[in-house]
Amino acid sequence: MLDEVPVVCPGCYASLVVEAEVWACASCGRAGQPLGPLATLYAEPAAEHASIEVGATRHLRRATETADGVQRQRASGPAVSRARLEVLGEGLRRYVAGLGQRWQAAGIALRSDGGPTRHDPRPTESQTLRDWAWPAHATWSNENQQAHAQLMEHVHGDLGRVLVLGAGAARLAYDLHADAKLTVALDLSPFPLLAASSIWRGETLEMWEFPPVPLDEPACRWQACAPPPSGRLVALAADGLDPPFEAESFDTVVTPWFIDQIPRDLPRLLQVLRYLLVPGGRWLNLGPLIYPADSAMAARHSLAEVVQLAQTAGFDVGAPSSVRVEYLCSPVSTQGRVEVVHAFGARRDDRGGAERPPPAWLGRPDLPIPRFGAKPDHPVKALVADAIDGRRSVRDIAEHLVRTHGMPPDDAATGVQLTIADLYARRSP
Ligand SMILES: C[S@@+](CC[C@H](N)C(=O)[O-])C[C@H]1O[C@@H](n2cnc3c(N)ncnc32)[C@H](O)[C@@H]1O
Repeated sequence: MLDEVPVVCPGCYASLVVEAEVWACASCGRAGQPLGPLATLYAEPAAEHASIEVGATRHLRRATETADGVQRQRASGPAVSRARLEVLGEGLRRYVAGLGQRWQAAGIALRSDGGPTRHDPRPTESQTLRDWAWPAHATWSNENQQAHAQLMEHVHGDLGRVLVLGAGAARLAYDLHADAKLTVALDLSPFPLLAASSIWRGETLEMWEFPPVPLDEPACRWQACAPPPSGRLVALAADGLDPPFEAESFDTVVTPWFIDQIPRDLPRLLQVLRYLLVPGGRWLNLGPLIYPADSAMAARHSLAEVVQLAQTAGFDVGAPSSVRVEYLCSPVSTQGRVEVVHAFGARRDDRGGAERPPPAWLGRPDLPIPRFGAKPDHPVKALVADAIDGRRSVRDIAEHLVRTHGMPPDDAATGVQLTIADLYARRSP
């Protein structure tokens, strides 16, 4: 289905043809394949694949260690706890076995080597449970339905071609797709999208939940399934901060629970949204404004600031709605969150010619740097250029050079960042 939107190579931004979710860039030679049923368009396919496998391996290792710890406590602990620990240990073992099998079937193998990874399956697990497993409950709010309803209040007219950025387990994309011409659910993490894609293909997925503060059982097994999509819906693992699409490819871009946690630089994300949307296209935002703890105060924008920044970026912003809702309140847990969720719709202005903003990793020391045609004109720059392997970030390269070449640690990251910006500005075409 990806052949229905104009995609570009995620590494060099040349136009790309994707057939049966397989691609090869004629310009830079990069090539990518799907992960099981999931289309992937990563800037560095091999490095990202390795990073995904490292994240998967670490996750299963941690869960196995937890299961072993539970087993030890069961043997040595008080008799009264044994039945509970038995249920927990058995659940954890079945969880590890089931996930391992599912990932292996999708081409994600476990590996013994390590290295940097940005793929941790844990943060999206509760979202995947909420999206596909938790039943609509008489005493619990249906969070999926509520999110969809709040967003739809801001939709006027056809959705057209829709891109959901940071779709997670993609329930909102699924709920929207029947009203759209085509829906692309994009997330950096393949794990929640793999679960969603399997469910969309008609599978019933066994999912496990281990609530830290259980209502009753410490391990809960869910069976997740859903009717197959009635329209065109595709899941895509890719970077939403540098989305692999041509300019003006979408009529609607949706950012659910995304703008506060992920971009760190909202003005830049607004440029990305403007680039993706056709003139007059619609940006739909939904979510709270809860910034990561290490965000600069200046970047923790209030709703009024978000609106003002969007207007400055060329959006006509409709009146927002703000609703206090339950968030990730599991039916089998005694604890959950309450958040104020803001929703609004914004129209991109009619002016054409939106420019693709410079890559996100140029301004972020924590993001992996894809290889590019660096032409170093100095031995120190050559060291930095040699360290770019598609997986390391500015921070990783700085640490590597401090360790291997005795680079002074003070200001190493700043020096590397400036060098990379210089190499990128003077790269070969
Ligand atoms: C707070 S979660 C919200 C997920 C989903 N929209 C929901 O409401 O359940 C943020 C999502 O952004 C994804 N993400 C993180 N970095 C990303 C990136 N660079 N591009 C696309 N998605 C990203 C995460 O994997 C995660 O699924």
